[in-house]
Amino acid sequence: MAPKTETQARRLMARLDALAAFTDDPPRLTRLCLSASHRRAAEQFIAWAKESGLAARVDAVGNVRARYEGRRQDAPALMIGSHIDTVRDAGRYDGALGALAALSVVEGLAARGARLDVALEIVAFGDEEGVRFPHTLTGSRGLAGINEPEALEQRDADGVSMRDALKAFGGDPDRLAAARAEGVVAFVELHIEQGPVLEAEGRPLGVVSAINGATRMSAVVTGTAGHAGASPMDLRRDALAAAAEMALAIEARARFEPELVATVGRLEVEPGAVNVIPGLARFSIDVRAPRDERRRRAVADIAAALEAIARRRGVRLELTPTHEAAAYICDPKIVAGLEAAVAAVGAIPRLLPSGAGHDTMVMGQSWPAGMLFVRCKGGISHNPAESISQEDCAIALAALVRFVEEFRAG
Ligand code: GLV
Ligand code: MN
Ligand code: MN
Repeated sequence: MAPKTETQARRLMARLDALAAFTDDPPRLTRLCLSASHRRAAEQFIAWAKESGLAARVDAVGNVRARYEGRRQDAPALMIGSHIDTVRDAGRYDGALGALAALSVVEGLAARGARLDVALEIVAFGDEEGVRFPHTLTGSRGLAGINEPEALEQRDADGVSMRDALKAFGGDPDRLAAARAEGVVAFVELHIEQGPVLEAEGRPLGVVSAINGATRMSAVVTGTAGHAGASPMDLRRDALAAAAEMALAIEARARFEPELVATVGRLEVEPGAVNVIPGLARFSIDVRAPRDERRRRAVADIAAALEAIARRRGVRLELTPTHEAAAYICDPKIVAGLEAAVAAVGAIPRLLPSGAGHDTMVMGQSWPAGMLFVRCKGGISHNPAESISQEDCAIALAALVRFVEEFRAG
């Protein structure tokens, strides 16, 4: 690896460490969409961009954006980046790697005074995880021009609307419909793999072939709260016991169908006391598959199974869809360009699908899009143990630079 790339990778890794300090829940890294720590991280991103002479800003939907002009003013733009929001108790590389790598690419070009045929648009999306607001991917939906106005009315667990959170963040909810990015011709995202395949095969890089589609729902089970000592077992309407049976039914539906995955990731119980039969249980459902028709069939089966359990147990079930993203097959020309870039930096191109969701799946609805994956330790992600090596970071950066330099619009 050229010494310059090593130096850039070292600085990128240091920035990733520094960005991890922006959290609302220290010492854990929790930087939910449009939170105070997200705002501070965005300001830091803007300050780093400024060091290379780039004027970055928060756009109407809460993304951080900057533009590096091409050889001629108003050249079509290749957009590169990823997200800087995180899950709760997150790792420091999911999203932040791709967002900061985009900045590194431009810094490298700016340091050499190099201009390309295309302009580069850098983006640090703000709503990839969907942990605070259920709708999810509103940053990329905004750029792709497909945000639904109802997204602004959704509320977080404390009752704060996305509209108010966006305003406080520095966005402009009234310009939601006007947020579409103009002059963009393609989008590319660098991201950690979040799975074990590359490590198992001893490869630093992978090129994403397709991204799984996803459906998320929220379920509310209403039973009857009652005395834990005085209510016989056959006369109860226990909301938690019903929710537990539902969670197992969801797991069972996905267990034996290859590539289908389904998860109950959050469960809240009310009133939540040792001697009270739970009267209410709320939980989340996340279903993913590479083929949309298989995902939709699984979602319908799950809904039917949950309703049957509710009927048998005499509890009420309310199922609300909160997020839907179609599977995306990455653009063949972008895939070929990324494979060539991987080969050019001395790695063997390896195509692999993404089980995780990404802003790319939304950007791909408006522009040709693709992703480069970098190996992560043990395939672990959504976990503070998330880790990549500086050597892999350097080779990923080199491949991204190569892709960008070779990219031709049209
Ligand atoms: C984002 O990390 C997702 O849930 O796929
Ligand atoms: Mn991510
Ligand atoms: Mn994630």
